[in-house]
Amino acid sequence: MPRGEETGTGLAIEIADLVVRFGSGASAVLAVDHASFSVAPGSFVSLVGPSGCGKTTILNLLAGLLDAASQGSPAGRASVLGKPPRPGNPDIAYMLARDSLLPWRTALGNAAYGMEVRNVPAAEREARAKGLLERVGLGGFMDKYPKALSHGMRQRCALARTFALDSPVLLMDEPFGALDAQTKLQLEDVLIDLCAATAKTVVFVTHDLAEAVALSDRVIVMSARPGRIVADVAIDLPQPRSVRALQSDPRFHSLYSRLWTLLEQGMTP
Ligand SMILES: Nc1ncnc2c1ncn2[C@@H]1O[C@H](COP(=O)(O)OP(=O)(O)OP(=O)(O)O)[C@@H](O)[C@H]1O
Ligand SMILES: [Mg+2]
Repeated sequence: MPRGEETGTGLAIEIADLVVRFGSGASAVLAVDHASFSVAPGSFVSLVGPSGCGKTTILNLLAGLLDAASQGSPAGRASVLGKPPRPGNPDIAYMLARDSLLPWRTALGNAAYGMEVRNVPAAEREARAKGLLERVGLGGFMDKYPKALSHGMRQRCALARTFALDSPVLLMDEPFGALDAQTKLQLEDVLIDLCAATAKTVVFVTHDLAEAVALSDRVIVMSARPGRIVADVAIDLPQPRSVRALQSDPRFHSLYSRLWTLLEQGMTP
């Protein structure tokens, strides 16, 4: 079991009866409607659902970012490694669709940035950042600035920064959503390798059902807003997986089409 994952319930993440409303009075928006799910330690779970159904809201809640400033008022229960969500939780690394690299830092400086914020000693920061940049295929680009990197390379760098944090829980919000299809497949394989080596607990948001099937142990399907959970599908494809090899596996296609049907059903009120 990864570091820090021993909880009373044995679950890495738990959400029970979650209701999230934004704003108040007549203009209030009900974003999430009585959602419940849990994630076992070391498990990779994807959240899929129509735009606006509350996927990012759920990740923000887990990251402790739904506060008065965001005007979100959550009700229900949520825990990460047995503790209530809180901002700046070192157990969590959060990766977004846009790479958000700092333009004035090199790839190495960017990969080390999150660790710097968390006061990891300099020598350890550098060693971890270099090791991760090698693993994501950026070994030859450590001294390059973001402007000299392609979009895919920048997202590789962001992946290195996320894993360099060494947090047991990863929240990933469409991290490959803005990439071309080929780069996306390559980065999915990189992510599979990194996850296999580190036994992370991952909650991954995507609009790409093929990506969800290829990466996940389970896929949770949400309805159109207000987001409810309409299905929780086990992805019983063998491990270790190769995204490329899965393309010719009939089980992959049958899971993909089942998820499509569930998603379509959840779009009709
Ligand atoms: N800070 C906020 N203030 C007001 N409303 C918000 C806020 N954040 C989210 N919402 C609303 O909550 C709902 C869910 O938003 P959320 O961003 O979680 O959706 P999503 O499933 O991530 O969508 P997408 O797939 O487009 O990223 C939307 O209707 C959105 O307008
Ligand atoms: Mg979103």
